[in-house]
Amino acid sequence: MNRHFDVIIIGAGAAGLMCAMEAGQRGRRVLILEKSGRAGNKIRISGGGKSNFTNLNMGAEYFLSRNPHFCKSPLARYTQWDFMDLLSRHGLTWEEREHGQLFCNQGATAIVDLLLEQCRNAGVAFQYECEVGEISRGEHFQLRTSQGKFSSTSLVVATGGPSIPRMGSTDFGLRIARRFGLKSIPFKPALVPFTFPPGFIARVSRPLAGISLNTAVSCNNAHFREQLLFTHRGLSGPVILQISSYWNKGDHISVDLLPDRDAGDWLRDEQGAHANRRLNTVLGDQLPRRLANILCEQNFGNQPLQGFTHGQLAEIGATLNAWQLLPSGTEGMRTAEAATGGVDTRELSSRTLEAGKVPGLYFIGETVDVTGHLGGYNFQWAWSSGWCAGQVA
Ligand code: FDA
Repeated sequence: MNRHFDVIIIGAGAAGLMCAMEAGQRGRRVLILEKSGRAGNKIRISGGGKSNFTNLNMGAEYFLSRNPHFCKSPLARYTQWDFMDLLSRHGLTWEEREHGQLFCNQGATAIVDLLLEQCRNAGVAFQYECEVGEISRGEHFQLRTSQGKFSSTSLVVATGGPSIPRMGSTDFGLRIARRFGLKSIPFKPALVPFTFPPGFIARVSRPLAGISLNTAVSCNNAHFREQLLFTHRGLSGPVILQISSYWNKGDHISVDLLPDRDAGDWLRDEQGAHANRRLNTVLGDQLPRRLANILCEQNFGNQPLQGFTHGQLAEIGATLNAWQLLPSGTEGMRTAEAATGGVDTRELSSRTLEAGKVPGLYFIGETVDVTGHLGGYNFQWAWSSGWCAGQVA
C-alpha cells in the first residue's frame, strides 16, 4: 500500500465521512484513519436508531460558541436542504417531528451506509482499528499509527468530542491542536441530565421518577420550553438537556411549571370560584397529581383555598412560575450527548476550517468550538463543516 495520500482524515464519524466523500469526489486521494472497528458509531445510535440528522429551522442562534458568527458561513454553504437532497437522491426518506426535527425512516444505519457507499465510489481508503499517535510536519504531515506510518499533504482532524467515553471518545482533537500551538477551549459536558443533592432526590425526584411535564426552563439568559422528566438521579428530558449546555456549576435553574399562565392570578380566580377546594386538588388540575401533592406537602401547605391570603397565593404562584432549583452537577461525559468547547474558532477559517497558523491542517465537527442545541443541529454542523473542508483539503 502506498502510504502517502493527498488527504488523511482522522475519524470516520459524521464530519469525517462527509469530508472524505467530498474530497474524494474532487479526485483527491483520501485515507480515513478510524480507531474503532467501523464507521459512524454515533450516527448509528442517534435519535433512538432513527438519527435526528438535521432540522428544518437552522441558524446561528441554535449553536453555542465563543464566536456565535463562526458557524454561519459553513451552515449557509452546505445547508439542511443540501443534506436532505443527498438523502432523497439515494432513496432515503424522513419524518418531521416537533420543532422541525427530521428523522430517517430507513434508520440511522442507512445514513452511514449511504456515506460509506459515496466514499467507496470516490475511491476513499479506510484503515480501521488504527490508533493515531505522534504527528509531525515537515514537507508533509507524518503520522505514526498502530498500523504503521502514513503521510499526507492535508490533514483533517475529525475525532469528535469526549462525550460517551465508553464509545472511545476522547479529547484527541484538542491534543493535536495544542501540539500545533493552536488555542482551544476545554470540553465541558453538554446536552446532559442534572444531578441533585441527596435531599432533593429523596424528597422530590425519586418519588416522581418517570413523570414528565411541559415546562419552560431558564438559566443564564437562555430559555427553552419542552418536556422535563423526573428521574432517580435528578432531572432530565429535552428541556433539561437543552439548558444544561448553558449551565455552570453553582447556577440556579428557574423552572416554570405552568408556562401558559400567571399562576398567582389563576389561583386567585380559583379561590373566588371554588373557595373550599384544597390547594393540591386545584394544582392537580394543571400539574401531575403526584407533583401537586409533593409541592403542597413540602412547600405550600394544603388547606382549602379560602385559607390563603392573596399575598400567599401570589407567592405560591411566583414559585410555580419560577421554581428555583440548584443542581449539584451533571451526569458528566458519561451520558452527555455533546460537549461545548473545542478548537478556538479564531484559529480557523470559517470558510474552509483550515488552521491559519498551520496550512493544510483542518478541524471539523465536534472538535471545533461550535455546539448545537438538541434537535439535529450537531449533525448539521458535522455535515456543513465536513463539506467545507472537503472542498479544499
Ligand atoms: P464523531 O464522534 O461522530 O466521530 C469521531 C470519530 O473519530 C469516531 O468514529 C471516533 O472513533 C474517531 N476517533 C476519535 N479519536 C480517534 C483517534 N485518536 N484516532 C482515530 N480515530 C479516532 N446529534 C444530532 O444532531 N442528532 C442526534 O440525534 C444525535 N444523537 C446523539 C445520541 C447520542 C447517544 C450521542 C452521544 C450523540 C448524539 N448526537 C446527535 C451528537 C452527534 O453524534 C455528534 O455531534 C456528532 O457525531 C459529531 O460528529 P463528529 O464527526 O465530529 O464526531
